[in-house]
Amino acid sequence: MSRVFRRAVDPPVAVRAEGVWVEDADGRRYLDAAGGAVVVGIGHGDTVVAAALAEQAARLAYVHGSAFTTEALEAYAAELAEVAPVPGARVFPVSGGSEAVETALKLARAYHLARGETERSVVIARHLSYHGNTRGALAVSGRPRLRAPYEPWLGHAVHIPAVTEYRCPAPGHPRGCGAWHAAQLERAIEQAGPGKVAAFIAEPIGGATTGAAAPPDDYWPAVAAVCRRHGVLLIADEVMTGFGRTGKWFAADHWGLRPDLLVAAKGASSGYWPLGLCIASAEVHETVTAAGGFVHGLTFSHHPVGAAVGRAVLGRLHDLGLVEAAAVKEPILQAALSAALGDHPAVGDIRGRGLLAGVEFVADRETRLPFPPGERVVERVVAAARRHGLLVYWSKGCADGVTGDVVVLGPPLIITPEEIALIAERLGAAVAEVFAGGD
Ligand SMILES: Cc1ncc(COP(=O)(O)O)c(C=O)c1O
Repeated sequence: MSRVFRRAVDPPVAVRAEGVWVEDADGRRYLDAAGGAVVVGIGHGDTVVAAALAEQAARLAYVHGSAFTTEALEAYAAELAEVAPVPGARVFPVSGGSEAVETALKLARAYHLARGETERSVVIARHLSYHGNTRGALAVSGRPRLRAPYEPWLGHAVHIPAVTEYRCPAPGHPRGCGAWHAAQLERAIEQAGPGKVAAFIAEPIGGATTGAAAPPDDYWPAVAAVCRRHGVLLIADEVMTGFGRTGKWFAADHWGLRPDLLVAAKGASSGYWPLGLCIASAEVHETVTAAGGFVHGLTFSHHPVGAAVGRAVLGRLHDLGLVEAAAVKEPILQAALSAALGDHPAVGDIRGRGLLAGVEFVADRETRLPFPPGERVVERVVAAARRHGLLVYWSKGCADGVTGDVVVLGPPLIITPEEIALIAERLGAAVAEVFAGGD
């Protein structure tokens, strides 16, 4: 009997990983087409990062963030500020994405309090979004299936429509969608009341919830303008999309978006250390600091080893040109997926940016009708893919929160074209098997 409170029934025992490959105790090798949960950007088994981790741990493993700063952290924050799309970036490192979101939400509130705008507490988010599983982060997440058991605890976030080009709710789609979505946000701000909204939080490009759905180009400029007009802070959740995943350093860079707060995790450390980041603008930082400081703290925030790992990962992204690589490999991945799956009657849409991709399954391509959740379509595809030696990420509810099956791909950015071809081949075989009833 295992003493681990496991997250899966009888999972295989992983013993080593290198590049895009993970090996289990039985010697089976899996092509990791999702980098775990879209975490591993620089690839598995990077000895440069492992050495940086070991060196920092041996020299100075831990001091409390309220007592000391460290060379590792100062150097990391300075280098990160060079690439983060936040004006005058100030970095508050934590241990993961949910903690980073909690930090950003509290910081938004602290900013308004510091300015004497004490009524600003409402957070607006989007339906079909994910910002984390802790209570505050879940409260802003638009994921009905994850929220359901905890609904009585979840506070008062307001949700506006998701942005999914495949299922766009804007009446004039594809024309004027940005303006339509911006109008939804403006209406929500006005309904909450003047001076009541603290922040709008959203993923610049959708992550697992919508299956890598990118907004139209007129979305972010229009939405950011509404935030500015109403004094609402814009929080960009780049936990899944940051650090090169979509072919830019951050997804916000696709539209020149400059959020007041940006949260990241996953690719920040590529999984070598549990690292999350809340990056605040100089304006937010200075306002809160001048009013007496940020009432917030976590034992493992500002961790020197996390900083050393984050810095080493940044170095690898620079040295190996991985941000550009993700952009260059986007058409290779999209073409391979289209060739393998594009004609399948159950594949409704193949989409994505950089090396973040989504494959959405539908019961009817014409009407885009999702499968009933009880058919467990995506779960069966994931299991079949694993039998074919392919690890993929997935989610359910991408159509309306309950129905809609999507496989999410986010391989390490070091992946080769041959390995991309193998992803498409194995996923194609898995999908064929499931819909032939052979799973
Ligand atoms: C967009 C987004 N925000 C927040 C989170 C939460 O991050 P974590 O699981 O590290 O707490 C995730 C995790 O998948 C995410 O994709």
